[in-house]
Amino acid sequence: MNQFYEDVIHGLTSGQKSLPSKYFYDERGSKIFQEIMALEEYYLPECEVEILQNRSTEILSEIPFESLDIIELGAGDGSKTVIFLKEAMKAIKHLNYIPMDISPEILEVNKALVSQKLPGLNVEAVAGDYLETISLLKERKNPRLLLFMGSNIGNFPGEKALGFIQFINDFLRPGDFFLMGVDLKKNPHIIRAAYNDSEGVTKKFNLNLLGRINRELGANFDVEAFEHYGVYNPLTGSALSFLVSLQAQRISIGDISINFDRYETIHTEISQKYSLKELDTIAAKTGFSWERHFTDEKIYFSLSLMRK
Ligand code: AVJ
Repeated sequence: MNQFYEDVIHGLTSGQKSLPSKYFYDERGSKIFQEIMALEEYYLPECEVEILQNRSTEILSEIPFESLDIIELGAGDGSKTVIFLKEAMKAIKHLNYIPMDISPEILEVNKALVSQKLPGLNVEAVAGDYLETISLLKERKNPRLLLFMGSNIGNFPGEKALGFIQFINDFLRPGDFFLMGVDLKKNPHIIRAAYNDSEGVTKKFNLNLLGRINRELGANFDVEAFEHYGVYNPLTGSALSFLVSLQAQRISIGDISINFDRYETIHTEISQKYSLKELDTIAAKTGFSWERHFTDEKIYFSLSLMRK
């Protein structure tokens, strides 16, 4: 059957149950994520916007090209990126913006927003899984700046993050740039609170994954019988999210049934935090020869610019 079904069954029949975090973002989940981004406790978007507002000109001053393709992976609605693109239009003569996203609907929103805010900018949106669609850009001759914002890199566990950045480096040509938004290690209380908000929006976001499995795969999860649990471990720099079964229960997904012990957990997400030092090491290990970090005033978040 479909990939979602296979991933869910695989995750829920493993010793430590888990579900891939990429499945959070159905229509409901994407709406709840918008709510998360507006939360006081979820400091990430505000920090990233501060950097984009205060430091875009400086970032662009490192990029010496007259022509440039700005390629954004997981572009979403582009509302943050326009801050950067506005400055890029002033600094670079021939600019193309290529937003890539799994969702064709969000790319329509992106195109509408960008053309309204930045008339005259050439936008060539590409819908689909960017791990596959990025190869469509191989023949383009312009120098490149690849954007991967929002601390989405945090969702890759450990070595997988390195593998992904290596994949990006392989796509780039010497002289090209990579700009990555990364949430930094900081006071653990602040990180913990970001994934345990007082309004319960993150809880709703996490539980929606079970709701989605019910809706799309015909499962019978009693969503009320699960609790959200978010932790941050300063030893590893990982914020982890779990769903906790509050009772012993058996659920079914089609003809497969799955047992939960009381307090058994499903691991649903990792949001890895990095130090600037660790980012230097990662850049060097993945084939970048130069990097510079642009942070907000509080040094909560970094837009890290790397050059191949
Ligand atoms: C979109 C992956 C950056 O990990 O902080 C927010 C998703 N999960 N609250 C993150 C998320 C719970 C978010 N990223």
